[in-house]
Amino acid sequence: MSDPHALIAAATDVRLNAHAPYSRFQVGAAIRGAGGAIHVGCNVENVAYPEGTCAEAGAIAAMVASGETRIAAIAVIADSPQPVSPCGGCRQKIAEFASGDTPVTLATTDGLVQHTTVAALLPGAFDQDYMSKA
Ligand code: THU
Repeated sequence: MSDPHALIAAATDVRLNAHAPYSRFQVGAAIRGAGGAIHVGCNVENVAYPEGTCAEAGAIAAMVASGETRIAAIAVIADSPQPVSPCGGCRQKIAEFASGDTPVTLATTDGLVQHTTVAALLPGAFDQDYMSKA
């Protein structure tokens, strides 16, 4: 059982490194890899707006670069009125390395926390089974 508090703490810390001069919306993400290590990421915006990357994508890239390919749990935090909701693209990116029942913790810097799962965030996810006739 992964400890969501440790992930929220790590996401809280890395959020402060977010490069978000355009939206001014800083996001932090922390992943517990299947091997136990924590991998973090923050959003990194660009003056060419579509080139920006989300916190979740950064954490996934750090995880994969470390040699880990399975997400045991993930937490995301932002200064939002309600626990921050990962964008559609990030839901698909998380699903690539997680199971449907993988716990996802969404949090605000004010202390609101929502516990959900990858399957709840991305019902009907596209996966490799759909390509079985290819
Ligand atoms: N953002 C994330 O990093 N993760 C999310 O789950 C939601 C949105 C970032 C992208 C952009 O830098 C800023 O928040 C505003 O959309």
